[in-house]
Amino acid sequence: MRWPAEALWEAVVPLLPGFTVEILPEIDSTNTELMRRARAGRVEPLLLVAETQTAGRGRLGRDWHSTPGDSLTFSLALPLNPPDWSGLSLAVGVSVSESLHPAVGLKWPNDLWWQERKLAGILIETASFGKERHAVIGVGVNLAPREAAGLSTPPAGLRELLPGIEATQVLLQLGEPLVRTVLAFERQGFAPFAARFNERDVLRGREVMLSDGQHGMAHGVDDRGALLVHTAAGMKHVTSSEISVRPRAAPQP
Ligand code: BTN
Repeated sequence: MRWPAEALWEAVVPLLPGFTVEILPEIDSTNTELMRRARAGRVEPLLLVAETQTAGRGRLGRDWHSTPGDSLTFSLALPLNPPDWSGLSLAVGVSVSESLHPAVGLKWPNDLWWQERKLAGILIETASFGKERHAVIGVGVNLAPREAAGLSTPPAGLRELLPGIEATQVLLQLGEPLVRTVLAFERQGFAPFAARFNERDVLRGREVMLSDGQHGMAHGVDDRGALLVHTAAGMKHVTSSEISVRPRAAPQP
């Protein structure tokens, strides 16, 4: 595959001095690798792409499966010290979805959905060095739909929306806006992204079930990225990403 490493580097380095791009044919997980490097003191800004991940990781301890050529898997690592971290993963979701296609939706907190199926996922991890923090932002995009076995939400593929699109092209589309987004988030927090999230929110106006058993109508997100759910007990601001939210099946007539 011919990766646009140089074009991406040229677009990003003015925003992020010292930035580099690295492409690996195979690694266990780009997030795991960048967290290993951070713990070893290698904290320069870097975007790492893997053509193959042998142990890709998803949120909540899940595996992330990807097929070489039929997916884009990369992580962006950079020093990051926002006054408030709330909503970073939602802002990343806004950026990635806007770069992909107008029809791509967001399912709180940070899954990218198309036609009720998951198209892409985001995994953010951080490491601390004294007062300084370092973020690793992993993004996995399915280009062709993957096996649904064992998944709670069956996957979609970007080629259903953009036939013939290659991972190399997707990386070039996503990379610079993603860096701009993360830097804007560091300065201004999530508030400027809330309206953009709400435009793509696939749960808005739908009955959702929270994993703690409560349910109610989803009303978008607040300025810190909490999901607003109107439950029998009133409006709840759901903040914990450990809470999984599912659209609730409509009652049968
Ligand atoms: C999720 O939806 O559960 C998050 C999926 C994140 C997958 C990406 S692929 C690149 C990076 N490396 C990983 O091991 N995971 C993230």
